[in-house]
Amino acid sequence: MPYDVTDLALADEGRLRIEWADRHMPVLRDIRARFEKERPLEGLKVAACLHVTTETANLMRTLKAGGASVVLCASNPLSTQDDTAAALVEHYGIDTFARRGVDTDGYYAHLEAALDTRPNITMDDGCDLVTLLHTKRRDQLAEVTAGTEETTTGVIRLRQMEREGALAYPIIAVNDTPTKHLFDNRYGTGQSTIDGILRATNLLLAGTTFVVAGFGYCGKGLAMRARGLGAKVVVTEVDPIRALEAAMEGFRVAPMAQAAREADVIVSVTGDRDVMRREHFEVMKDGVVLANSGHFDVEIDKAALAELASSVVRVRENVEEFTLEDGRRINLVAEGRLVNLGAAEGHPAAVMDMSFADQSLSLEWLSRQQDLEVRVHDVPAEIDAEVAKVKLATMDIEIDTLTDAQESYLHSWTEGT
Ligand code: ADE
Repeated sequence: MPYDVTDLALADEGRLRIEWADRHMPVLRDIRARFEKERPLEGLKVAACLHVTTETANLMRTLKAGGASVVLCASNPLSTQDDTAAALVEHYGIDTFARRGVDTDGYYAHLEAALDTRPNITMDDGCDLVTLLHTKRRDQLAEVTAGTEETTTGVIRLRQMEREGALAYPIIAVNDTPTKHLFDNRYGTGQSTIDGILRATNLLLAGTTFVVAGFGYCGKGLAMRARGLGAKVVVTEVDPIRALEAAMEGFRVAPMAQAAREADVIVSVTGDRDVMRREHFEVMKDGVVLANSGHFDVEIDKAALAELASSVVRVRENVEEFTLEDGRRINLVAEGRLVNLGAAEGHPAAVMDMSFADQSLSLEWLSRQQDLEVRVHDVPAEIDAEVAKVKLATMDIEIDTLTDAQESYLHSWTEGT
């Protein structure tokens, strides 16, 4: 079986953690039990490029139970949990290419290895696999019938590919469905970003000035949770509507040039590059902590920071301290990569439960389609409703149903004042 992982001896530890996560993923478990009986994914050859975490492991088990053949590679050089990767190979028989801390060449070698299996479906987190297929591996494009994408960043790229006529096969934007981004992006990123910063630094957030760059769903969750821990939260934005929303949520809104002077902690969650750059580093306070929770490590201009620094010392496992000529120290967490996955374990299983239920049911839906139009597709609304319904049931939450009169009122246009 082809694989490349750090240490197979970690497999037992990985299995225990995968099983722990599974206890918090009841929707995915239900789907897996049904898939085992019905085998709806028979014939699918899936190449998945995702963060190799315990939650992803349970998704891979589900796809395999559904009859798919699966290969997994990591979607980020720093997010791989080596014990999970080992368990996937040793205990679950899933070809896995992932080592925490690989360099860029190693990272792409793993994506290439996944594509060497000649998949007919891609499952991507950030669009790197799709980009590789549409550039260096174009000869394989005709074999691929469809795909899914997990992230905001990836979907933005796919829509651009669609606009430019570059997209070669249909892809479902799993990120854009409500049971994904309203929960995973908001509550998942909110909690796990703070988790990463705290595990890395052991800071007390109460009383600090905590700057959140970007007020999309991830930024909203992060700002909300930082406030909950007693931080004075400042939001930076480029979009006037989001800035207004942040202001009306009670957050101070300021440009980065100003926020950077006051911040104790700054976290980027924008999806764009150079959000913290030279002009900002030049005015930051001594001891400031910088982190990124956007998909790629481009939001903090690390090259400019290194240029300004007279020394760089790793002061804790996931913190590098850059000392500037004037003695000020700037602390960078998790190399400016996704801090929630680089310094913690990513989103908790209970929220990945919904995202990965969306992924599994989207693949089942794709397996039933023929001649799907080549464009970015939404997750079918019935999948979204089903995931929410089952999640509620697993949380023992009941809701009301419309009476007949209410139902018909909603469908009439003649009743008014
Ligand atoms: N993205 C964010 N958190 C994640 C997790 N726990 N597993 C997989 N992908 C993730």
